Amino acid sequence: MKVLASGKIDPTTWPNTGIGRINPDGSRGACSACHSRHLFSAKVARSPESCGKCHLGPDHPQKEIYDESKHGIAFYANRDRMNLDSRSWVLGKDYSAAPTCATCHMSATADLPVTHDPGERLSWTLRPAVSRKMEDWEKKRATMRQVCGNCHDQRFVGAFYTQYDITVDLYNEKFAKPAGELMKKLAAAGKITPNTFTGKIEWTYFLLWHHEGRRARHGASMMAPDYTQWHGFFEVANRFYNELLPEAEELLPGSTDFILAQDQHKWKKGIGKEEREKMKKFYEERYGK
Ligand code: HEC
Ligand code: HEC
Ligand code: HEC
Ligand code: HEC
Repeated sequence: MKVLASGKIDPTTWPNTGIGRINPDGSRGACSACHSRHLFSAKVARSPESCGKCHLGPDHPQKEIYDESKHGIAFYANRDRMNLDSRSWVLGKDYSAAPTCATCHMSATADLPVTHDPGERLSWTLRPAVSRKMEDWEKKRATMRQVCGNCHDQRFVGAFYTQYDITVDLYNEKFAKPAGELMKKLAAAGKITPNTFTGKIEWTYFLLWHHEGRRARHGASMMAPDYTQWHGFFEVANRFYNELLPEAEELLPGSTDFILAQDQHKWKKGIGKEEREKMKKFYEERYGK
């Protein structure tokens, strides 16, 4: 937000409720991003729709993911039991029917205070091309697990995290790291310019990690099977095998050999007769001839 010499606010910079707004005094953020100006309501901020204003769409579909998860389903079925209007909103005391976005990321439990840092309970960052653990991730994960523990047994929660980690590792190792290496190779050979987005393959790579790759990871992080698989890994594989690799081969023949030699990609070369017969039999038994 800028203030003009006349003392008026520059109308090209406000209204603005950006989460990272830079205010005239240098401070950052806009409380009205979540609370709305006049009521300054906790009820509004606690509702998943208010986070969904920004957290939706092809590159970070948290709202859609939540809606299809058991948590979203439980919330919409039990909204009238959520006590969203209550001044005190402590999980397990004031409500227990379902978690909203705020419940897991910001709100209080009997042992945890409200936080306005939504990163405080995250162990991974799923936004970069290759996911990495956050600083102090063990502590942050333990904090999130305290929230889950109000509604679930810790063995159940631990098993969720085991599967979540495996999924992120699979994405990192099978697709993200080889794709990143491939792009470096093409750059070193002068096949892509230093200016980003000038060549088709740069768009392909971007869509792979920034859209489809995030959807797979975000889906897994918040229990949404369809976003993990069909909007996620299926699209990742399609982009990777049918666009990224052929486009790289066209620019630099042989550049993808190192990928196809990796164990996880060997299936591309085809499978033996015996294996094929086994699969055929499996599907025939299951679905009929
Ligand atoms: C990312 C969304 C978001 C932003 C931005 C945000 N808040 Fe909140 N705020 C919440 C949520 C969610 C709650 C409800 C927490 C609860 O009661 O469970 C809340 C609760 C509060 C409360 C109630 C007291 C408490 O701690 O329970 C106050 C006061 C508050 N916010 C002030 C602010 C101020 C001031 C700003 C700007 C500097 C701000 N908030 C920005 C989401 C946000
Ligand atoms: C006005 C838009 C907007 C609203 C509303 C909003 N967010 Fe965000 N949120 C963002 C942006 C932008 C980022 C940072 C993305 C980045 O750095 O790549 C972010 C980051 C996050 C992160 C990751 C934090 C980290 O440290 O990695 C979480 C978790 C999150 N938001 C949860 C919420 C929740 C819960 C709500 C609702 C209570 C909410 N957000 C409302 C825009 C918004
Ligand atoms: C049941 C608890 C729960 C609910 C409900 C929930 N989340 Fe999450 N969220 C998580 C967990 C767990 C992670 C992954 C944490 C980790 O990496 O350790 C996560 C990760 C995130 C991230 C980080 C993504 C990144 O790129 O690193 C964002 C942003 C986010 N959630 C937003 C939301 C929004 C918006 C909603 C509601 C529409 C929501 N969450 C609902 C538990 C929840
Ligand atoms: C307010 C209570 C509440 C909190 C907090 C909560 N959950 Fe849940 N969770 C539920 C409910 C309700 C269901 C659906 C249970 C059922 O099927 O009867 C569910 C289901 C699940 C499922 C099964 C998903 C499926 O598709 O079958 C997993 C996994 C899960 N939760 C993990 C977590 C994790 C991890 C956290 C913390 C990040 C968490 N939950 C926090 C209430 C909660």
